[in-house]
Amino acid sequence: MSNERIATLSVDGNSHEFPILSGTHGNDVIDIRTLGGKTGMFTYDSGFLSTGSCKSAITFIDGDKGELLYRGYPIEQLADQCTFLEVAYLLRKGELPNAAQKDEFERSIKNHAMLHDQLMRFYNGFRRDAHPMAIMVGIVGALSAFYHEAMDFSDEEHRTMSVYRLIAKLPTIVAMAYKYNMGQQFMFPRNDLNYAENFMHMMFATPCEEYKPNPVVAHALDVIFTLHADHEQNASTSTVRLAGSSGANPFACISAGIACLWGPAHGGANEACLNMLEEIGDVSRVGEYIKRAKDKDDSFRLMGFGHRVYKNYDPRAKLMRKVCYDVLGELGLENDRLFKLAMELERIALEDDFFVERKLYPNVDFYSGIVQKAIGIPTSMFTCVFALARTVGWITQWEEMITDPEYKIGRPRQLYVGPARRDVPDMAQR
Ligand SMILES: CC(C)(COP(=O)(O)OP(=O)(O)OC[C@H]1O[C@@H](n2cnc3c(N)ncnc32)[C@H](O)[C@@H]1OP(=O)(O)O)[C@@H](O)C(=O)NCCC(=O)NCCS
Repeated sequence: MSNERIATLSVDGNSHEFPILSGTHGNDVIDIRTLGGKTGMFTYDSGFLSTGSCKSAITFIDGDKGELLYRGYPIEQLADQCTFLEVAYLLRKGELPNAAQKDEFERSIKNHAMLHDQLMRFYNGFRRDAHPMAIMVGIVGALSAFYHEAMDFSDEEHRTMSVYRLIAKLPTIVAMAYKYNMGQQFMFPRNDLNYAENFMHMMFATPCEEYKPNPVVAHALDVIFTLHADHEQNASTSTVRLAGSSGANPFACISAGIACLWGPAHGGANEACLNMLEEIGDVSRVGEYIKRAKDKDDSFRLMGFGHRVYKNYDPRAKLMRKVCYDVLGELGLENDRLFKLAMELERIALEDDFFVERKLYPNVDFYSGIVQKAIGIPTSMFTCVFALARTVGWITQWEEMITDPEYKIGRPRQLYVGPARRDVPDMAQR
């Protein structure tokens, strides 16, 4: 990074200089770390619209170009040529694994897929109808009670073990949340299956009969995982970093990320999108809902449309759209009511001036909800699948932060707009 360029800020007639930093790609940033000391002022940027919170070498997004790179590699090439576990290895290590490294990594992940027997008992404490994301927050948080040695962050072996455990156990935890909801027996991981197939097995197999994962569906799931593996400093990743910045247990930090992801403006969008499609119900009502989405006095928004960062198109949405057609074709669901409805919504929104002018395109969640529904994953589980995949990004970002020599506890400032200082009145005067 170069810091030869300087930004000058004039405050009340006094000039202050700040270095401009450039990364490999993307916007330059003004390094304002000394602003408070120099001027006694802070910046105000609620929603972090113009704030870079860290340096990172993991993921790069160009929202205008519709580009997503993991460690420099375009998402399109990774989704096409690599498995999710290769991508997970790449994200953490910075380079793709060779054949021997890939085998070794896959073996390590398989070795950690089972849950501690006592952890499985936690499920019984939840109501049967609990939202699976609530169960995920609880169970993943509870991992911190089982793996306390993860607190020695200076030890790379301990960090590696935490990463393996998280990547390996998340599919088991998600599938068990589903089985618990369904009132079905937990299915244990099977080491003869690959990562996505094993997840399907734990979700859909029962002890009563043999289960063979459909390879087209397993591949689609693997691609879904890859597309969701990381997305730089979004709300949940920033949550994980902020939680981790205090030196908290990494499993507890991932649980915080899951809690953040649950919201409908973030990972809950695919669930909200499917609920919206159910609410619309029929192709004949699409126009009515498009009208509502455009009405300033109506709070209704088209779920699965728009993105904070991608303002032209979401490259993941393009890939997911293809996966959507592949899976629906494989399962003979091309004429499914909701699918047809979704395609009509997509068509109208892409032609409508309101959406075109605001650059509102279907995002990855629009298609991933439809794919997951076709696979047989219930709507309430969609965000859990997202969390499973994003765990790879979260823990990679956590580790990058923890090993950064410049790392400090995160502590934003505020613009206080509450009452001015005053004295507590006696009870009779209140
Ligand atoms: C993702 C999202 C939060 C991004 O928000 P943002 O970048 O802050 O954009 P804004 O909320 O400022 O929206 C810009 C304009 O587009 C409109 N808009 C944005 N998303 C819209 C949607 N899904 N449906 C209808 N109008 C939408 C806003 O009303 C606003 O219109 P205005 O300029 O006339 O006021 C937003 O697009 C959204 O709520 N989408 C639906 C939820 C979703 O799918 N989230 C998944 C993200 S992966």
